[in-house]
Amino acid sequence: MAIFKQYFEPESSTYTYLLADSDTREAVLIDTVDSEKDFYLAELERLGLKLRWILETHVHADHITAAGQLRDATGATTAVGRNCGAECANVQLEDEQTLVFGNEVIRVINTPGHTPGSVSYHWRDRVFTGDALLIGGCGRTDFQGGNPKDLYHSIVDRLFVLPEETLVYPGHDYKGRTVSSIGEEKRTNPRLAGKSEAEFVEIMNNLNLARPKKIDEAVPANKVCGLETHAA
Ligand SMILES: [Fe+2]
Repeated sequence: MAIFKQYFEPESSTYTYLLADSDTREAVLIDTVDSEKDFYLAELERLGLKLRWILETHVHADHITAAGQLRDATGATTAVGRNCGAECANVQLEDEQTLVFGNEVIRVINTPGHTPGSVSYHWRDRVFTGDALLIGGCGRTDFQGGNPKDLYHSIVDRLFVLPEETLVYPGHDYKGRTVSSIGEEKRTNPRLAGKSEAEFVEIMNNLNLARPKKIDEAVPANKVCGLETHAA
C-alpha cells in the first residue's frame, strides 16, 4: 500500500507531491515551496510519516524550495539532477538511478530541455514531470539554459514511451487541472500532438513570455537548497 498526496501552492501555482510507503511509513516530497515548510512538517506528523527523500525536478525560477530547511528539520536526504548545478544537494542524480523508500522504488528519468538538469520521477503507475511536460503544454526553454530540441526529445523519447495509462503529475498548472496521462498528452497536447521536432522548436522559440517575477531571487537561492548563503 502507498500513500499519495498532491498539494498546491497558489502564489506560484506549484504542485508538491508526498509519496509514502504505508508499511514502513517512509516518505518522499517532490518540489517543495519554502512558504509551506511548516505545513509539510505538520502533514508528516499528522500522517505518522518519516521523511526519507526531498527531491527536486529542477532548479526552479518561480519559487524557492523548502528542501534545505526540511533537511535540517528532518534529517532527510536531498537530491537533484546532476546537471542542475545545485551542489548543496546530498545526492546528484544520474539517469535511470533508483531511489528507495520503504518497499517503494522511484526511477529517475533525465528530461532536460526546460533546464539542463531537469529530471522526471517515475513511481508505480505515475510520473512526476516537473516543468518538462505540463498538462496541455510544457516548460519554457528561453532561459536557464533551456533547449527546445532537448525538451522535444525528452518528452517524445523518454516520457511518451511510458504506457499510455501512466498518470502525468506536472510541476504546475495554471488552470486548476491536477492530473493527465501519457496517452492524453500524446493525443491532445497542442505543442506536441502530431508535431515534428522542427515545428515544436518553432513554437517554443515564439512564445514571447514575460520573465518570471522571482527569477533573480529564486534561481540563486535554489542552487543552495533554499538556504541563506550568508555571503558578505
Ligand atoms: Fe521551472
